[in-house]
Amino acid sequence: MGLHQMTDRIELVQGDITQQETEAIGNAANSRLAGGGGVDGAIHRAGGPSLMEDLKANYPRGCPTGQAVITGGGRLKARYVLHAVGPVYSGKPKDAELLASAYRACLSLCSQHGIKTAAFPSISTGAYRYPLKEAAPIALRTVAAYLTTHPEIALVRFVLFDSATYAAYQQALEVIQGRFAS
Ligand code: APR
Repeated sequence: MGLHQMTDRIELVQGDITQQETEAIGNAANSRLAGGGGVDGAIHRAGGPSLMEDLKANYPRGCPTGQAVITGGGRLKARYVLHAVGPVYSGKPKDAELLASAYRACLSLCSQHGIKTAAFPSISTGAYRYPLKEAAPIALRTVAAYLTTHPEIALVRFVLFDSATYAAYQQALEVIQGRFAS
Protein backbone atom coordinates (compact mmCIF):
# COMPACT_ATOMS: atom_id res chain seq x y z
CA MET A 1 0.00 0.00 0.00
CA GLY A 2 1.24 3.43 -0.88
CA LEU A 3 1.76 6.25 1.59
CA HIS A 4 -1.60 7.63 0.44
CA GLN A 5 -3.51 4.77 2.05
CA MET A 6 -1.43 5.19 5.22
CA THR A 7 -2.62 8.74 5.66
CA ASP A 8 -6.14 7.38 5.95
CA ARG A 9 -5.21 6.43 9.50
CA ILE A 10 -3.86 9.89 10.27
CA GLU A 11 -6.20 12.61 11.52
CA LEU A 12 -5.55 16.29 12.14
CA VAL A 13 -7.64 18.26 14.66
CA GLN A 14 -7.26 21.68 16.23
CA GLY A 15 -7.76 21.35 19.96
CA ASP A 16 -6.41 20.44 23.37
CA ILE A 17 -4.60 17.12 23.62
CA THR A 18 -5.59 16.72 27.30
CA GLN A 19 -9.21 16.24 26.16
CA GLN A 20 -8.49 13.46 23.67
CA GLU A 21 -10.08 10.04 24.18
CA THR A 22 -7.45 8.04 22.31
CA GLU A 23 -5.86 5.21 24.34
CA ALA A 24 -2.61 7.17 24.54
CA ILE A 25 -1.55 10.79 24.18
CA GLY A 26 1.94 12.00 23.41
CA ASN A 27 3.69 14.63 25.49
CA ALA A 28 6.47 17.02 24.41
CA ALA A 29 8.71 16.55 27.43
CA ASN A 30 12.30 17.45 28.26
CA SER A 31 15.19 15.04 28.76
CA ARG A 32 14.99 15.46 32.54
CA LEU A 33 11.28 14.48 32.48
CA ALA A 34 10.91 17.35 34.93
CA GLY A 35 7.63 18.73 33.56
CA GLY A 36 7.46 22.26 32.26
CA GLY A 37 5.19 24.69 30.47
CA GLY A 38 3.44 24.23 27.12
CA VAL A 39 1.80 20.90 26.45
CA ASP A 40 4.00 19.25 29.15
CA GLY A 41 2.49 21.56 31.76
CA ALA A 42 -1.05 21.04 30.45
CA ILE A 43 -0.76 17.25 30.50
CA HIS A 44 0.69 17.14 34.03
CA ARG A 45 -1.98 19.55 35.30
CA ALA A 46 -4.78 17.50 33.72
CA GLY A 47 -3.25 14.09 34.56
CA GLY A 48 -2.41 14.90 38.14
CA PRO A 49 0.55 13.94 40.35
CA SER A 50 0.56 10.23 39.44
CA LEU A 51 2.26 11.05 36.12
CA MET A 52 5.28 12.63 37.83
CA GLU A 53 5.33 9.87 40.44
CA ASP A 54 5.48 7.31 37.60
CA LEU A 55 8.26 9.23 35.87
CA LYS A 56 10.37 9.60 39.02
CA ALA A 57 9.89 5.95 39.99
CA ASN A 58 10.49 4.37 36.59
CA TYR A 59 12.78 6.81 34.76
CA PRO A 60 14.89 8.51 37.43
CA ARG A 61 17.64 9.23 34.91
CA GLY A 62 15.28 10.97 32.47
CA CYS A 63 15.01 10.23 28.75
CA PRO A 64 17.47 11.02 25.93
CA THR A 65 16.40 13.32 23.10
CA GLY A 66 14.74 11.33 20.31
CA GLN A 67 13.36 8.72 22.69
CA ALA A 68 10.16 8.33 24.72
CA VAL A 69 8.90 6.72 27.93
CA ILE A 70 5.41 5.60 28.94
CA THR A 71 3.34 6.28 32.06
CA GLY A 72 -0.29 5.81 33.06
CA GLY A 73 -2.75 8.57 32.21
CA GLY A 74 -3.74 9.48 35.77
CA ARG A 75 -6.91 11.60 35.64
CA LEU A 76 -6.74 12.00 31.83
CA LYS A 77 -9.27 10.27 29.56
CA ALA A 78 -6.29 8.59 27.86
CA ARG A 79 -4.96 5.49 29.62
CA TYR A 80 -1.33 6.18 28.77
CA VAL A 81 0.97 9.14 28.24
CA LEU A 82 3.95 8.77 25.91
CA HIS A 83 6.53 11.31 27.13
CA ALA A 84 8.67 12.04 24.08
CA VAL A 85 11.76 14.26 24.03
CA GLY A 86 12.11 16.21 20.80
CA PRO A 87 15.21 18.15 19.77
CA VAL A 88 15.82 21.78 20.57
CA TYR A 89 16.11 23.26 17.08
CA SER A 90 19.73 23.84 16.07
CA GLY A 91 19.46 23.92 12.27
CA LYS A 92 21.72 20.85 11.93
CA PRO A 93 20.68 17.71 9.99
CA LYS A 94 20.57 15.81 13.29
CA ASP A 95 17.43 17.78 14.25
CA ALA A 96 15.28 15.98 11.66
CA GLU A 97 16.60 12.55 12.67
CA LEU A 98 15.90 13.24 16.36
CA LEU A 99 12.41 14.61 15.70
CA ALA A 100 11.49 11.59 13.56
CA SER A 101 13.00 9.31 16.19
CA ALA A 102 10.85 10.86 18.93
CA TYR A 103 7.64 10.06 17.00
CA ARG A 104 8.87 6.57 16.10
CA ALA A 105 9.71 5.90 19.75
CA CYS A 106 6.12 6.79 20.73
CA LEU A 107 4.70 4.53 18.02
CA SER A 108 6.88 1.59 19.00
CA LEU A 109 5.71 2.02 22.61
CA CYS A 110 2.13 1.80 21.26
CA SER A 111 2.98 -1.42 19.38
CA GLN A 112 4.71 -2.88 22.45
CA HIS A 113 1.75 -2.09 24.71
CA GLY A 114 -1.05 -3.04 22.32
CA ILE A 115 -2.17 0.58 22.09
CA LYS A 116 -4.20 1.07 18.88
CA THR A 117 -5.04 4.79 18.98
CA ALA A 118 -2.77 7.69 19.89
CA ALA A 119 -2.83 11.47 19.76
CA PHE A 120 0.31 13.58 19.31
CA PRO A 121 1.05 17.27 19.83
CA SER A 122 3.37 19.09 17.46
CA ILE A 123 6.59 18.06 19.20
CA SER A 124 9.45 20.62 19.38
CA THR A 125 7.61 23.44 17.54
CA GLY A 126 6.98 25.53 20.67
CA ALA A 127 9.68 26.30 23.25
CA TYR A 128 12.11 24.13 21.27
CA ARG A 129 11.63 26.46 18.30
CA TYR A 130 11.52 23.85 15.53
CA PRO A 131 10.14 25.67 12.46
CA LEU A 132 6.65 24.40 11.67
CA LYS A 133 7.30 24.19 7.92
CA GLU A 134 10.13 21.72 8.58
CA ALA A 135 8.59 19.85 11.53
CA ALA A 136 5.14 19.12 10.08
CA PRO A 137 6.35 17.10 7.04
CA ILE A 138 8.83 15.19 9.23
CA ALA A 139 6.11 14.30 11.75
CA LEU A 140 3.59 13.21 9.11
CA ARG A 141 6.03 11.27 6.92
CA THR A 142 7.45 9.47 9.98
CA VAL A 143 4.00 8.43 11.22
CA ALA A 144 2.76 7.46 7.73
CA ALA A 145 5.87 5.35 7.13
CA TYR A 146 5.43 3.57 10.48
CA LEU A 147 1.76 2.84 9.74
CA THR A 148 2.79 1.22 6.43
CA THR A 149 4.35 -1.70 8.27
CA HIS A 150 2.22 -1.60 11.45
CA PRO A 151 -1.42 -2.45 10.74
CA GLU A 152 -1.95 -2.90 14.48
CA ILE A 153 -2.08 0.89 14.90
CA ALA A 154 -5.60 1.97 13.92
CA LEU A 155 -5.42 5.76 14.34
CA VAL A 156 -2.88 8.51 14.91
CA ARG A 157 -4.39 11.94 15.56
CA PHE A 158 -2.31 15.12 15.55
CA VAL A 159 -3.89 17.59 17.96
CA LEU A 160 -2.77 21.07 16.95
CA PHE A 161 -3.27 23.83 19.48
CA ASP A 162 -3.52 26.89 17.25
CA SER A 163 -4.66 27.62 13.70
CA ALA A 164 -1.17 28.35 12.33
CA THR A 165 0.05 24.94 13.48
CA TYR A 166 -3.08 23.26 12.15
CA ALA A 167 -2.61 24.96 8.75
CA ALA A 168 1.03 23.86 8.53
CA TYR A 169 0.11 20.23 9.18
CA GLN A 170 -2.87 20.39 6.82
CA GLN A 171 -0.64 21.69 4.02
CA ALA A 172 2.04 19.07 4.71
CA LEU A 173 -0.57 16.30 4.71
CA GLU A 174 -1.97 17.45 1.37
CA VAL A 175 1.52 17.35 -0.14
CA ILE A 176 2.06 13.81 1.09
CA GLN A 177 -1.40 12.64 -0.09
CA GLY A 178 -1.09 14.49 -3.38
CA ARG A 179 2.18 12.71 -4.18
CA PHE A 180 0.49 9.34 -3.85
CA ALA A 181 -2.93 10.11 -5.25
CA SER A 182 -3.49 7.44 -7.89
N1 APR B 1 -2.73 20.55 23.47
C1 APR B 1 -2.06 20.39 22.29
N2 APR B 1 -0.96 21.09 21.96
C2 APR B 1 -0.52 22.01 22.86
C3 APR B 1 -1.15 22.23 24.10
C4 APR B 1 -2.31 21.46 24.38
N3 APR B 1 -2.97 21.58 25.54
N4 APR B 1 -0.45 23.22 24.76
C5 APR B 1 0.55 23.59 23.94
N5 APR B 1 0.52 22.88 22.80
C6 APR B 1 1.37 22.97 21.62
C7 APR B 1 2.13 24.24 21.41
O1 APR B 1 1.28 25.28 20.95
C8 APR B 1 3.12 23.77 20.36
O2 APR B 1 2.49 23.78 19.09
O3 APR B 1 2.38 21.98 21.70
C9 APR B 1 3.37 22.30 20.74
C10 APR B 1 4.73 22.03 21.37
O4 APR B 1 5.12 23.16 22.15
P1 APR B 1 5.79 22.99 23.61
O5 APR B 1 4.77 22.49 24.56
O6 APR B 1 6.48 24.28 23.92
O7 APR B 1 6.84 21.81 23.42
P2 APR B 1 8.31 21.82 22.76
O8 APR B 1 8.47 22.87 21.73
O9 APR B 1 8.54 20.38 22.38
O10 APR B 1 9.26 22.22 23.99
C11 APR B 1 9.41 21.27 25.03
O11 APR B 1 8.92 22.89 26.74
O12 APR B 1 7.16 22.66 28.20
C12 APR B 1 8.53 22.49 28.06
O13 APR B 1 9.04 20.66 29.53
C13 APR B 1 8.92 21.03 28.17
O14 APR B 1 11.25 21.50 28.20
C14 APR B 1 10.21 21.02 27.39
C15 APR B 1 9.93 21.99 26.26
